[in-house]
Amino acid sequence: MPKSIAIIGITGNQGSSVALHYLSLNSAAIQSGDAPPYIICGLTRNPASPVAIHLKSQSVEIVKADLDDASMLISTLKGANLIFSVTNYWEPFFRPDCRVKAKQLGVSPRKYAYDVEYAQGRNIADAAAATVDTLDDNGFIVSTLSHATQCSNGKYRELYHFDAKADVFPELASLCTASASRRGYIFEDLGIGVSRRVSPRTLI
Ligand SMILES: NC(=O)c1ccc[n+]([C@@H]2O[C@H](COP(=O)([O-])OP(=O)(O)OC[C@H]3O[C@@H](n4cnc5c(N)ncnc54)[C@H](OP(=O)(O)O)[C@@H]3O)[C@@H](O)[C@H]2O)c1
Repeated sequence: MPKSIAIIGITGNQGSSVALHYLSLNSAAIQSGDAPPYIICGLTRNPASPVAIHLKSQSVEIVKADLDDASMLISTLKGANLIFSVTNYWEPFFRPDCRVKAKQLGVSPRKYAYDVEYAQGRNIADAAAATVDTLDDNGFIVSTLSHATQCSNGKYRELYHFDAKADVFPELASLCTASASRRGYIFEDLGIGVSRRVSPRTLI
């Protein structure tokens, strides 16, 4: 029976590399005359993007989903044996419409992005908890960072892109078995800022 792998952020740097790993395992099995051991499902807001279309052509099941939509996530992740997830700080930080919303709410763009990322993390955690019976041991993988405020004893209180990810974890631990992958700075970021995507180049 093949295992079901759900990848949040499959069109991005981290998610696409996870997809490539499982695709290579499937290819190896097929070359040996075996059935592919994994059904790979990728979540994206835009199934019509070039990366999503390319992944679909590689037998990845592409599903339209938004991390802001809690009930959609629960139904999309139902039955998964493994979930890989990322959350998104930089998009709500940079997007012009989010800047407008932050201003309307009277919060800084950083705090606004923290709130969005934290809410997305909660939605992911709730959806994983809703399917905990089908998850493998350590089958919920979360890309995260350390808690900057706590690690600096309160010296650095506005590294919201660290703290949002870390703040979801105390809640995760009580919901289901999870593994946290603390990513280092990804090489492609060097010199070009944090928001460039390399996946279209590396995948297509
Ligand atoms: N790059 C690094 O060095 C690094 C290091 C540590 C931690 N991180 C963190 O890890 C996260 C992901 O990093 P990355 O480099 O893989 O990012 P990325 O290349 O920008 O990809 C972001 C992914 O998230 C998806 N996504 C964003 N908002 C979404 C939403 N509302 N609903 C559904 N999917 C959404 C995007 O999918 P669609 O656009 O297709 O919907 C895309 O696949 C970021 O939060 C970043 O802060 C990054």
